[in-house]
Amino acid sequence: MAEFEPRIVGFCCHFCAYSAADLAGSMRLQYSPDIRIVEMPCSGTIDHQVILQAFEDGADGVFVAGCLEGDCHFMKGNYRAKKRAHQVKKLLEEIGFESERLEFYNLSAADGPRFAKIANEMSHRIRKLGPSPFNTNVKVEDNVTSTIVQQNPS
Ligand code: FES
Repeated sequence: MAEFEPRIVGFCCHFCAYSAADLAGSMRLQYSPDIRIVEMPCSGTIDHQVILQAFEDGADGVFVAGCLEGDCHFMKGNYRAKKRAHQVKKLLEEIGFESERLEFYNLSAADGPRFAKIANEMSHRIRKLGPSPFNTNVKVEDNVTSTIVQQNPS
């Protein structure tokens, strides 16, 4: 039987988490290839539907990463994102879905090593949990990307 290869979607704010991921790459830090990064203008643009849709589209784990508290370029976007992520975690618990599959992080653009650590921790956590019960062998890259494009036309 083939080894489980988790599909983890990381919704990353352009100004911090995405930059931190970029920095991790520039620093040649090794982190899990299980992570698919979706760049967002601000973590505050995430909503419940986008997170749930990512799971429905085949993600085994999802994380949302915004700027450090007080550092959001859009004032309170990261506070909103954190609140929404926690609301979705509660909802997942209520329906008997492992809420550990979803996490929220605050980090700065200089946190390249921490981004790599987060990516590896999420990968380790999801590998322990196994495939998402929602996973129906749908290709996450295609569906998540098309969902995001539909919801955030630029
Ligand atoms: S700009 Fe980074 S969380 Fe809002």
